[in-house]
Amino acid sequence: MSKSAAKPNGQTPRHIAIIMDGNGRWAAAHGRARHAGHRAGVKAARAVVEASIEAGVDVLTLFAFSSENWSRPTDEVNGLMRLFIEVLQREMDALHDNGIRLRFVGARDQLPTILQKRMADAEARTAGNSRLTLVVAIAYGGRWDVLQAMRRIAAKIEAGELNAGELDEGVIARHLSLAGLPAPDLLIRTGGEYRVSNFLLWDLAYTEVFFCPTLWPDFDLAQLQAALAFFARRQRRFGRTAEQLEVIAD
Ligand code: IPE
Ligand code: IPE
Ligand code: MG
Repeated sequence: MSKSAAKPNGQTPRHIAIIMDGNGRWAAAHGRARHAGHRAGVKAARAVVEASIEAGVDVLTLFAFSSENWSRPTDEVNGLMRLFIEVLQREMDALHDNGIRLRFVGARDQLPTILQKRMADAEARTAGNSRLTLVVAIAYGGRWDVLQAMRRIAAKIEAGELNAGELDEGVIARHLSLAGLPAPDLLIRTGGEYRVSNFLLWDLAYTEVFFCPTLWPDFDLAQLQAALAFFARRQRRFGRTAEQLEVIAD
């Protein structure tokens, strides 16, 4: 292997995280209300879940509603909550039959009680599935996640269950929402914005990032394949030099 060529990793990501942005603009472009965009977004999400299983991905994390999205107009927030409740009800059987394990992350006590119940039921029902872990981030913020981890750690220290001196990166990771899962290998953000918008702040430390202008309802299999091809071309160095990686690989 030539020493000058950066060696691509050539792999499929184990964990893909997606910021599904651009639904409102998609609706506007079709002369429809924003809510129609969110409904169209569900279809795109379903297709990506299926394609991820096909591609051999282990974990898919979808950002559905951020801590900051509570600041949207009440009608839009209520419409989104209704949509989550409805979609969970409608898709549950198919998700379970497809061997999908569901996990929700976010400040769930802020959500409507019925949604909280559906989420808990879905998690319990699919707990034994292992084909794909589907993590749905609702009322989620990266800062909220770090804060809730810190609070739980502080409580353990106060209760004498943990020594402050034992606090390290591993302890923090085990208290974050994605505890027990591999960190995302690939982050996709649709909708053309180049920002993280308070998604997984800790977990994205070494994630490859694919930004695309496509509005989320238009994100399809071809787009996912483009993102996978982008990922396969990346050389993941984790701070090392390309030459060091070639020695390790040989
Ligand atoms: C992302 O789409 C989904 C949510 C935040 C719920 P948007 O609703 O942000 O759509 P745009 O970005 O306004 O087009
Ligand atoms: C990020 O999209 C959150 C979700 C996709 C759920 P936003 O539309 O809320 O992001 P900003 O506000 O444009 O950064
Ligand atoms: Mg947006």
